Amino acid sequence: MITTNYIGQPVNRVDGRAKVTGQAKYAAEFNVVSGITYGFVVSSPVTKGKITAVNTRQALSQKGVLQVFTHENVSGLAWFDRSYKDQDAPKDGSPFRPFQNNEIQFSLQPIALVVAETYELARYAASLIHFEYEVDDQLVVGLEQNLDKARKPKSYKVPVTKPRGDANEAFEQSAIKHHGDYYHGSEHHNPMEMHATTVIYGDDDKLTIYDKTQGVQNSQSYVKKIFGLSDDQARVISPFVGGAFGSGLRPQYQLFMAVLASLELKRSVKVVLTRQQMFSFGHRPATLQKVIIGASADGKLQSIINKAYTETSQFEEYTENIVNWSGYLYHCENVDFDHQIVSQDVYTPLDMRAPGGVTGVYAIECAVDETAYKAGIDPLEFRMMNYAEKDLNDDLPFSSRELMQCYLQGAERFGWRKRNPEVRSMREGHNLIGWGVATGAWEAQQMPVRAKAKLSADGKLTVSTATSDIGTGTYTSMTQVAAETLGLPIEDVLFKLGDSAMPLAPLQGGSWTAASVGSAVKLVCEDIRSKLFSMARKVDNSPFANADTDDVIFDSGKIISKSNPQVYLTVSEIMHQSGVNVIEEDTTSLPNMLKQKQYSRYTHSAVFVEVKVDEDLGTVHVTRVVSAVAGGRIINPKTARSQVLGGVVWGISQALQEDTILDNNIGRFMNHDLAEYHIPVNADIKDIEVIFVEEHDDIVNPLGVKGLGEIGIVGVAAAISNAVYHATGKRVRDLPIQLNKLM
Ligand code: MOS
Repeated sequence: MITTNYIGQPVNRVDGRAKVTGQAKYAAEFNVVSGITYGFVVSSPVTKGKITAVNTRQALSQKGVLQVFTHENVSGLAWFDRSYKDQDAPKDGSPFRPFQNNEIQFSLQPIALVVAETYELARYAASLIHFEYEVDDQLVVGLEQNLDKARKPKSYKVPVTKPRGDANEAFEQSAIKHHGDYYHGSEHHNPMEMHATTVIYGDDDKLTIYDKTQGVQNSQSYVKKIFGLSDDQARVISPFVGGAFGSGLRPQYQLFMAVLASLELKRSVKVVLTRQQMFSFGHRPATLQKVIIGASADGKLQSIINKAYTETSQFEEYTENIVNWSGYLYHCENVDFDHQIVSQDVYTPLDMRAPGGVTGVYAIECAVDETAYKAGIDPLEFRMMNYAEKDLNDDLPFSSRELMQCYLQGAERFGWRKRNPEVRSMREGHNLIGWGVATGAWEAQQMPVRAKAKLSADGKLTVSTATSDIGTGTYTSMTQVAAETLGLPIEDVLFKLGDSAMPLAPLQGGSWTAASVGSAVKLVCEDIRSKLFSMARKVDNSPFANADTDDVIFDSGKIISKSNPQVYLTVSEIMHQSGVNVIEEDTTSLPNMLKQKQYSRYTHSAVFVEVKVDEDLGTVHVTRVVSAVAGGRIINPKTARSQVLGGVVWGISQALQEDTILDNNIGRFMNHDLAEYHIPVNADIKDIEVIFVEEHDDIVNPLGVKGLGEIGIVGVAAAISNAVYHATGKRVRDLPIQLNKLM
């Protein structure tokens, strides 16, 4: 009966048309002024050492070259202030600042910015700069080669849950014992859109900054602090982002450079990184996990020990939540975890989709699988036998956890029953077939968000907050929430984001946007709703004069009597008759900490995978995936499915293809381009099915949504590894599983 129920509907993307017709503008596409200049970044060929001389004469002599910025000519700026910390910094960190001094700390470090009238000229002039270096070839590079330098972070406590029981003793007593070292190589961010910043210069150093970012207010506070600017001198705008996945959580160096050049030259400046330079500012860290599992003869987990080693840079201490998943996923009374870091001569690692979760779950889910085989128990059965009924890490009940349904519904859809448990038992011609399974989990968090809503007398609603839509569908899902809450046709609702001048919102990350921004949108629309209703009660001859909110519904732009649908007032009537042009509200939504902290809040998945491995060539193809997700309430099944599909594709990529190879002798990621850094193409991706398991949760947030940005990738690489074992009888314990490891 209600026509404006949108939550739960597969609404098309409200920004879809703008995106496919090229009207959606990205950071490098803002050309709103004439006379814009172009900056080209020069990257260091040296990994470690000092710049001893710079000669820019020839570059500067080119007609149309405006300036070459290096450490020699930008001293004395406010950016020597080290107190700034970006929202995504490691506990002690702030993003790398170019040009601070002549020191070089990593390969491809930005060491100069050439600004010219055209991009081509800037790039050409960059080739004319002559640097001299004092090279330090005493490099610390390679995680496994430098484990003797592993240590605890100095600046903060690494996120390791406390031990419980006696893991060593329990392992000794276990009938079934497994230990394995699981290695995960580095990966670099390569969203389609390269990092870019366009700064439009205005009088009195008023900058309008179009930045590729996951948080306009994070970029803004960075720029303000470093360059000593006020709010209105640094307005950061980012209406569309061509993928980010974590790469836009920190202000990246092109932002620094574009702002620096604009302020110095008093000109508008655009800086776009090259694809190769996308490999110069952070990566998913190489990780080694030493996992030990003990189980009883009947397959009950007795002991889990996981010691992780990850890399960090020489100038920041980066860690992720890697080991704790080992104590979270299953019921196990005896656990012990550790996590140490190794400082290397590379850039600081960077959050990448489900940071830590992807890595940690990969190891524990392979190790659990290996244990199941040793116990002679079906790997899915084994997981269900060791199901956790509460979160033993934090000793808390779950706010909701329909993981068992993920296992059951996923298995049913996949046809797991037909699986022959023997390895190398299923084949099709020269292909060995393997079926694997893994569990996934990710946190369901809610952050404070402020939102503003404006309802005008023509019944149109605008809602805004400074969040981002990095491709997740935020524009669409938030439009749905607003339209449904106020009972407006969806065409009458405009949701705006991506402007630092809008109300406070955190970075778009951590899978928390739908939960956090959604709660704020709901709340602010409820405020408008109450105002509208009290106005409706007061208009002349109001049919609702004595009505209660429970007596009416808000639907298709009207307030309608529940008992008699013929009785209604339209939004326009109410506002016109009240002499009001606009109703405006501004509200902050805060998580209910008191309630939330009494529960463990996660989203879950079960991933089922079929691989075909060519017995002669060792090539692996993922032919089928079923991902069953319990993510609370689903606002939009279409965009939600897309999130999980994208995650699964990346999981396939991570398991089989992606790997940035570090040359330990020269400290450089060698395959820093898309020719040699392999990612899947359409032909690599076959059948992927997504199931959303019904899950109700009124603790996570007022909307009951848990977030889906990251869960799709978690567990995929483990499921593939496990399937490859089932197909071939060979355990490959380092990613990616390339054919040389299977031959
Ligand atoms: Mo995500 S790695 O929190 O953008």
